[in-house]
Amino acid sequence: MHQQTLHQVPRIVVLISGGGSNLQALMDAIAQGVIDATIELVISNTPDAKGLLRASKAGIPTQVVNHLEYSSREAFDRELIHVIDDKQPELVVLAGFMRIFTPQLTDHYHGRMLNIHPSLLPLFKGTNTHERALEAEVDQHGASVHFVTSELDGGPIVLQSLVPVLGEDSPATLAARVLVHEHIIYPIAIKWFCEGRLNLSHDQVTMDGQPLPAQGLAFQS
Ligand code: GAR
Repeated sequence: MHQQTLHQVPRIVVLISGGGSNLQALMDAIAQGVIDATIELVISNTPDAKGLLRASKAGIPTQVVNHLEYSSREAFDRELIHVIDDKQPELVVLAGFMRIFTPQLTDHYHGRMLNIHPSLLPLFKGTNTHERALEAEVDQHGASVHFVTSELDGGPIVLQSLVPVLGEDSPATLAARVLVHEHIIYPIAIKWFCEGRLNLSHDQVTMDGQPLPAQGLAFQS
């Protein structure tokens, strides 16, 4: 569904589980005036996520919703929805958030939740994407920004960036090169959304009203 922006400057809530380098890229893009939006809250499901410190340093409120304190996935997701909706965001950004959602949550945020995944989706959904790409001996790897649906890492793709695999690559070297691309394409896609250019309607992504191909747009550096 097309989401009307409720606030003059779009409000974003970011969910993290770890280092928060994608969160940092978003904070930097906002600070530099590249994206006109505010981050209202950064939520982590784990108290020791380093990204929480990045947010605090930038003066952004943080909150831990620790999944270990909830008896079920449903109860955890109910609390997440409560905490997120309290901020009335136009967009929810998953930036290395490593929990699987219930359909109740993904349906609730249909068309207004984005994720970045370290592979060229639909290849290598799930975890350990770089190891699996090397095992599969692919020539090209990369990163994808997609809308979140109930299918894990399976929502409609917005933007992808190709990263050539090198003969000497280890999972760590490949991950590091992919991460550089993540930091470029995620702010671009978020900017498009905040400008009202990017929409999801009936599982079809549109950009400026034009339907995107299944693989989304290809980022050209
Ligand atoms: C990123 O590589 C992101 O694509 C990945 O976790 C990392 C988080 O890094 N996300 C997933 O695997 C989600 N399925 P960051 O905390 O430094 O942004």
